[in-house]
Amino acid sequence: KEDINVRLELQKASTLEKVVQSGVLRVGLESGYMPFEMTDKKGAVVGFDVDMVTEMAKAMGVKLEIVNTAWDGIIPGLLSNKYDLIASGMTVNQERNLKVNFANPYIIVGQTALISKQFADEITDWKQLNDPKYTITSKLGTTGEQAAKRLFPKATYKSFEMEDQAMLEALNGKAAATVYDLPMTSIFYAQRGKDAGMKFLDKPFTYEPLGWAINKGDPDFLNWLNNFLVQIKNDGRYDRIYNKWFGS
Ligand code: ARG
Repeated sequence: KEDINVRLELQKASTLEKVVQSGVLRVGLESGYMPFEMTDKKGAVVGFDVDMVTEMAKAMGVKLEIVNTAWDGIIPGLLSNKYDLIASGMTVNQERNLKVNFANPYIIVGQTALISKQFADEITDWKQLNDPKYTITSKLGTTGEQAAKRLFPKATYKSFEMEDQAMLEALNGKAAATVYDLPMTSIFYAQRGKDAGMKFLDKPFTYEPLGWAINKGDPDFLNWLNNFLVQIKNDGRYDRIYNKWFGS
């Protein structure tokens, strides 16, 4: 009887307690989404999300462990406890929210389009992309993919494992356009797209709050995260990290 009670007690324990007791916060992300998480020349994962969770671990008094995971397995990895939370530029949408809980959004982004050189004069509005003569790319399992399929059902959609591959396809003229989250398209445009004659339709046509995902049924952890977010948003820490990655 006592055994069962102990076990039930452990099951109820918040991830927060487990993190504090183990001394490690395990964060799941997939590197490759600029400037949120990307791998630098030395092989370290850096970015906006990484700095935010570094601050988070500091506030918990624990060490940070980054678990780099493929995007299509990132929610299953959380559900099977491979990490304590996902901080990977994940858009809070209703479909994902059926499986996980999200802390309040830490930034708002939206879908934008990069047009290949060949169609740079022809396509001046994202609505034109809904046309059978265009091929549009994005990344597998993302809201970019969902938006492309939903908004441009008449176009041909082509999916890629990684965001940079989807973008290169349009840069190389093999697709008319690539659709993705604003911060990343903006960086890709500045670094490569502009010189390659691409056009950047930079006004977001979707509304996408990004949030940290945790397992359901854990109000203690959710409460901690939301209060942590309010605190850093107002004491200068968020602004310092934001300006570092997005420029002031
Ligand atoms: N915001 C988009 C989504 O949630 C893309 C996020 C991709 N993140 C990443 N780390 N690769 O679907």
